[in-house]
Amino acid sequence: MPNDLDIGIHDLSFSTTEFVLPHTVLAEHNGTDIGKYHVGIGQRSLSVPAADEDIVTMAAAAAAPVVARNGSDQIRTVVFATESSVDQAKSAGVYVHALLGLPPAARVVELKQACYGATAALQFGIGLVHRDPTQRVLVIASDVSRYDLDSPAEATQGAAAVAMLVGANPGLVRVEAPSGLFTADVMDFWRPNYRDTALVDGEGSIIAYLQAVEGVWKDYERQGGRPLEEFRAFCYHQPFTKMAYKAHRHLLSLCGGDTDKGAIERAIGLTTAYNAEVGNSYTASLYLGLAALLDQADDLNDEAVGFLSYGSGSVAEFFTGTVVPGYREHLRTAANREAIDRRTPLAYAEYRELHQRSLPTDGGEHLTPAQTTGPFRLAGIRDHKRRYEPR
Ligand code: CAA
Repeated sequence: MPNDLDIGIHDLSFSTTEFVLPHTVLAEHNGTDIGKYHVGIGQRSLSVPAADEDIVTMAAAAAAPVVARNGSDQIRTVVFATESSVDQAKSAGVYVHALLGLPPAARVVELKQACYGATAALQFGIGLVHRDPTQRVLVIASDVSRYDLDSPAEATQGAAAVAMLVGANPGLVRVEAPSGLFTADVMDFWRPNYRDTALVDGEGSIIAYLQAVEGVWKDYERQGGRPLEEFRAFCYHQPFTKMAYKAHRHLLSLCGGDTDKGAIERAIGLTTAYNAEVGNSYTASLYLGLAALLDQADDLNDEAVGFLSYGSGSVAEFFTGTVVPGYREHLRTAANREAIDRRTPLAYAEYRELHQRSLPTDGGEHLTPAQTTGPFRLAGIRDHKRRYEPR
């Protein structure tokens, strides 16, 4: 087994939804001081899917540019991470495989462990590339975060998909061993099969996240990981961007590091730019943080970045990536900005109507209203079967 092989993220692309709800609109509806949203939780707006968008259409939109740039010949595995799955049996990745015309000689599978799933997918992909460095693995993270209307968690909704091509000699980030790992059976956030919206213990979830930060870091140290001072930046899972600040402050105080505001801002400030506007994208959130960092930092050549992936329930992992010299040539900065800027703002009543929509369950033929201007859409449902089409 080649241990000195460089494996990691070769390309990264993301997509989000047709619509956006600014937090100013939500605050006006529920009488909340906007400071609570803009400063208290660090969110500006949240992505809202159109009636004909879901995790599959977002995923295909995120992955299409990756396939267009790199081809699909070497892709023999697609791993689709999500916690807002559309089917209990069939992987959402199979729809994406068809929409993108990927080779039939491929394995496609869906993975779930709350927001942590994409990191498991990335690590499993790295393992497959170790076994055969000529292969590449398409890792997709796609989620729609939905909580009950008028609940405290409503302000932390969002939606996005990230597609990453994992391979040898990557263009963006080399992923290193070791990882720090942590699992604990907690009920901080969950969604029983019969519910469309997630249940959450808000305060308990923040405590569970911080305990996981402690757990992964202690294990990372035990495994012989890098000292804290070697990291140029840290990407955190961001259910709301203020959470990354809480988590990093917690990590620094655990390690006896400098917890002043400036030090924390320098380590994580750039990673929050996209998440503040997209909202919680669950599995995709950590990797939107990476995209924002790579797109905005001055020069990250050969710099070490720490990644903290947290999935409620809970499973967490801390790992290191080193940014590959020349990474800028592989960035998609303009497209990333465009994915966010192109969204159409919703009035509150329009958002509420979209939130309350659900697909009919009677097995009849139902066409979906044509709302998205994105490259793929959910055309409808017939005989309980979803039908997707390029637009
Ligand atoms: N100006 C500035 N700040 C203000 C303010 C104002 N006018 N009013 C309130 N604030 C501050 C508060 O002081 C508080 O700051 P601190 O956390 O630093 O104390 C912050 O705004 C939030 O205020 P509250 O705690 O009163 O807010 P809330 O009770 O409405 O709940 C929440 C906030 C718990 C995040 C809730 O939105 C929620 O439950 N979200 C979903 C759960 C979640 O995201 N958990 C994160 C960890 S779990 C995870 O990471 C997995 C996942 O993806 C779900």
